[in-house]
Amino acid sequence: MLPPLFESQLQLPLKQRGKVRDIYTVDDEHLLIVATDRLSAFDVILPTPIPNKGAILTAVSNFWFHFTESFITNHLADMSLKEILSDPDEYQCMQGRSVIVKKFKPLPIEAIVRGYLAGSGWKDYKKSGAICEITLPQGLQLADKLPSPIYTPSTKAALGEHDTNINFSETSALIGERLAKQVRDISLKIYTRARDYAAARGIIIADTKFEFGTDMKGELVLIDEVLTPDSSRFWAKEQYHVGISPPSFDKQFVRDYLETLDWDKTAPGPTLPQHILEKTVAKYQEAQLRLMT
Ligand SMILES: Nc1ncnc2c1ncn2[C@@H]1O[C@H](COP(=O)(O)OP(=O)(O)OP(=O)(O)O)[C@@H](O)[C@H]1O
Ligand SMILES: [Mg+2]
Repeated sequence: MLPPLFESQLQLPLKQRGKVRDIYTVDDEHLLIVATDRLSAFDVILPTPIPNKGAILTAVSNFWFHFTESFITNHLADMSLKEILSDPDEYQCMQGRSVIVKKFKPLPIEAIVRGYLAGSGWKDYKKSGAICEITLPQGLQLADKLPSPIYTPSTKAALGEHDTNINFSETSALIGERLAKQVRDISLKIYTRARDYAAARGIIIADTKFEFGTDMKGELVLIDEVLTPDSSRFWAKEQYHVGISPPSFDKQFVRDYLETLDWDKTAPGPTLPQHILEKTVAKYQEAQLRLMT
């Protein structure tokens, strides 16, 4: 197992640090995406890294990139990490937790697909009977499976701001009608196939977010991370009941623990005790095991 990594410090130009991932510029056409072991809960990055989380998320995302490659081009580059990281220590530490990707122009939208009623979708449904102007049958309960998956895109918010839901014509205005249709159709296809695959292995993918970019010809490419517990809501089949909010597959012990503290859910977050850490590591390992074996 790699030593836990809270923040990477590579001898490459740093492009940005996200909540979980550190992005470096490799050259004009490539980026290095490093999945650290940071975990965020209630939108706050906790100070305790989760050993192996970055490596597991990288493996899971790569698994889905291969799962979908027959119908959507993705950003994975076939450059070797050794070529980029000449320092053997850097290489050792990054191997398995990073990907070299081709750089594309990210579309300014988040392609969200929901198969179940949860989170903000549930709130919207309770208020209006609809999510993002998609009217749903009456009488659905929290965590109910939707009659069919729905596509509910949003804008990509700047740091500290909240994403805004957009309807189809607003999406078309942003990226053009051809891409808007393609993103919608591909997103629903990826979600549906992945949902069925995961369900057979005891994981419910309640909802997820994809990101797409365009290449030089304006063709669509799947970028970022795909169907990881960080970009999706995973539930364990055996903990799933309609009418309650099923526990998050990966963050349940962390959230439950945080709820016992007198913490106002603003940064800095509390450190995690060893037993919570161990249980959480085990959940990430279990997710990988269920999906990839
Ligand atoms: N192939 C690519 N080409 C260009 N940009 C990319 C590519 N793949 C991913 N990105 C961009 O890299 C960034 C990933 O960093 P981001 O800030 O989302 O990290 P994160 O750890 O997911 O944080 P957060 O939880 O805040 O989203 C995103 O802005 C995404 O659009
Ligand atoms: Mg992100």
